[in-house]
Amino acid sequence: MTAIVSGSASQALSAALASELDCPLAAVEYDRFPDGELLAAVPGFDADRAVVVASTTSHAAHLELLLLQDALHEAGAEEVVTVLPYMGYARQDRAFESGQPISSRAVARAISTGADRVLTVSPHEEGVCEFFEPTAEVVDAAPVLADPLPDDLADPVFLAPDEGAVGIAETVRDTYGSGEIDHFEKHRLSGERVEITPSDADVAGRDVVVADDIIATGSTMSEAVEVLHDREVARVFATCVHPLLAGNAYTKLAASGVEAIYGTDTIEGPATAASVAPVLAEHLSAD
Ligand code: R5P
Repeated sequence: MTAIVSGSASQALSAALASELDCPLAAVEYDRFPDGELLAAVPGFDADRAVVVASTTSHAAHLELLLLQDALHEAGAEEVVTVLPYMGYARQDRAFESGQPISSRAVARAISTGADRVLTVSPHEEGVCEFFEPTAEVVDAAPVLADPLPDDLADPVFLAPDEGAVGIAETVRDTYGSGEIDHFEKHRLSGERVEITPSDADVAGRDVVVADDIIATGSTMSEAVEVLHDREVARVFATCVHPLLAGNAYTKLAASGVEAIYGTDTIEGPATAASVAPVLAEHLSAD
C-alpha cells in the first residue's frame, strides 16, 4: 500500500494527490523541544511505500523533509519517494564566484540520503536533477497553466519574458489551443532588478499571457507588463509554475495592472489557481 505524507508547505497538494491516486494521507505530527529543535513524526505509519510531498520553500521545510524521510524509514517503509513540487535552492546550481557552494547540490545530496527516488516539478534548470542519487525525475507542469485562463482570450499572444521560458509559453499555448508565441530578452542587473529588451510583437488590443517558470521578486513580470501596457495591450495575465512571490512581489504585480496572477500549488498561496496533482499522479501511476 502507498500512503501520501505531507510536508507542512504542501498540504493542499498532498490531499489532492491522495485523492487522485486514491491513497490514504498519513498522519504527521510536529513538536518542538525546549531549545527550539523540531520533531516531525509519522505515528502509526504502516504502508510499504511512502510518497512524501514537500516543497522546500524555507529552511524549516528542508529540515522537516529530512526528518520525515528518516521517520518513514524508522517506521518500516520499504520505499520512500520524495516529491519536491518546488525545490528550494534550485537556482543556486553553480558557484557564481570562487569560494561559493553549489547549494542545490548540497541540498540534493542531503535529500538523497533519505529518498529512494525523487521527483521534482518543472525545475528552472534540469541539470539540478543530476545532483540527486539516483537522478531526480522531472514532471512538467506547464500544461496545467492553461487551466485557469479564460476561454475568451482575444487574439492571444503567449509571451515568454526571456528565451528560457519559450518552451513553457509554447506548452501553455498548445494546451490552450490557439495563439501566437513571442519572447522578450532579459538581462538581470541584480537579484531584484532586470532589464527587458522587448521584441517588436504587435500586441495592441490583444490579450497577452506572460508565462514563466517562477515569479520570485516579480521584477521580470512587472518589467514585461510595463512594456505591454506602453503598447496598448488589452489584458495581461501573468502565469507561472512556481508562484514564489517573495516580499512584495504580489502587490507589485497587482499594481502593475495585470488582470490576474496565476500559479500552481507547487507553492500554496494567493496565486495558486491550478493543481499539479493530476500530472504528478500520472507520472507516479506510470510505474
Ligand atoms: C529566470 O530566468 C527565471 O525564469 C525567472 O524569470 C526568474 O527567476 C523570475 O525572477 P523574478 O521574479 O525575481 O524576476
